[in-house]
Amino acid sequence: MELVTKISGITLRNPFMNASGVLGQTVSLLRRLQEAGAGAVVTKSITYEERKGYDNPTFVKIKCGYLNAMGLPNPGFKEFSKELSSSKEEFKVPVIVSIAPSEPKQAKEMAATFKKVADAIEINLSCPHAEKLGLEVFSDMGLTENIVKSVKDNFDGPVFCKLPPYRNEVLGLIKSLESCDALVVSNTIRAMVIDVKAKKPILGNKFGGLSGRALHPISLALVFELYEKTRKPIVGVGGIESWEDAVEFFLAGASAVQIGSALEKKGTTIFKELIEGLEEYLKEEKIGLEELIGLAHDS
Ligand code: SIN
Repeated sequence: MELVTKISGITLRNPFMNASGVLGQTVSLLRRLQEAGAGAVVTKSITYEERKGYDNPTFVKIKCGYLNAMGLPNPGFKEFSKELSSSKEEFKVPVIVSIAPSEPKQAKEMAATFKKVADAIEINLSCPHAEKLGLEVFSDMGLTENIVKSVKDNFDGPVFCKLPPYRNEVLGLIKSLESCDALVVSNTIRAMVIDVKAKKPILGNKFGGLSGRALHPISLALVFELYEKTRKPIVGVGGIESWEDAVEFFLAGASAVQIGSALEKKGTTIFKELIEGLEEYLKEEKIGLEELIGLAHDS
């Protein structure tokens, strides 16, 4: 069955990509994702300046999923764009560059720099634990609007916005995203885990983001609602571990999905498993991928 999907003008050989931050830290990791079958690859969120990231521990497995607080470690946009430019021609699938600007001037410079090497830009408006970045930006409607506009004005390809999983906040601030082309739903849930012997939060940063199984039904419900409330294409993210989890997102209205925690858990072979599972399902159901998108809604 045909798995090609289109999102705001970019064509993906299949609807599966990595979630930002998971195996997208370096060009060689992005290449590995391409070789494993990803339909597009997404970089780690890149900031204006270099960031070292938080102290360890930065990743903890818990009963209902995973908590992480890496602290957006990255070499800064100038350095990363140099690295990507030198190997861009090796990519046969779209490269989506995730950026986390904290103000419009940064957004403008970053968008103009990545213009030559990115097929799309994903703006991180949802990291749940970084000062003046991600969620802190999104909570300011005017700031978000100006950042999105700065990226749109200085980049030729599609601009995606990665949102938090908090329904009321997203619906309340959705107007600030009018100029973006697609929504990525959703990032992790702000969360914490405490060591009862040490009597202290486990993560170096204390707060982190919850991903994995617990996130799946929450993101799914938001995708379903946003599909009805906006006309924008949606990329679903949240606890996808099997082709059935992905199909739920397509039925809710996502045109493509991103895989995060399951890539850590199962490795890059998950792409093959998802592709084969989806192909088989579409064949059995005698339905195309495009027809599946949003089918769980009343017509
Ligand atoms: C991190 O680098 O700590 C996670 C980034 C994010 O949640 O957006």
